[in-house]
Amino acid sequence: MRLRAIVLAVLGLLAGMSAAIVILPEARRKLLPAGERIATIGKAQIGGPFSLVDHTGRAVTEQDFRGRYMLIYFGFTHCPDICPTSLQVMSAALDKIGPLADRVAPLLITLDAERDTPAQLALYVKSFHPRLVGLTGSADQIANVAKAYRVYFNKVKDEKSSADFTIDHTSILYLMDPNGEFAAHFTHATSVDSMADRLRKILQER
Ligand code: NI
Repeated sequence: MRLRAIVLAVLGLLAGMSAAIVILPEARRKLLPAGERIATIGKAQIGGPFSLVDHTGRAVTEQDFRGRYMLIYFGFTHCPDICPTSLQVMSAALDKIGPLADRVAPLLITLDAERDTPAQLALYVKSFHPRLVGLTGSADQIANVAKAYRVYFNKVKDEKSSADFTIDHTSILYLMDPNGEFAAHFTHATSVDSMADRLRKILQER
């Protein structure tokens, strides 16, 4: 389990770095040597429409969150370590920015259509943040939203799990603006303080 956690942490970091290279001109400038800079691409192609079910059983789409920022984490409730850590950091950062957080909808989109029913998500989300919304759906609905957000996930055999499988996945948090456009991303390695600072800065600017 520890090895998997380390491998996932490294993969997550690499994914975050490569996402940063693709997405953010300023991050690219920091990560790539001057001679290797490539032409800046336009608006980040992250996100898009989704059709899911929330932890109360209500059908929701991205339109239900228009007018608010969405802070989205992709994970699953049976994740042993990385997901809970990321969700704790996300929740603590939201608490830290006070009333500004009211403009942010914290979302957990599960990558485990099989086990993460609305009822399972309802039990899980309340242990992190009172406003955290758990979203699930059919395997196709989840595959579609993961693809739109460029999140990698893969079901793998795990004898230690009661269901005999676990899910390897990208650990990344996306902040989408009130129009559903990409605003920022964080990795699970982002600290509470730096996430709170970045959120505060973005929310106060707009
Ligand atoms: Ni996880």
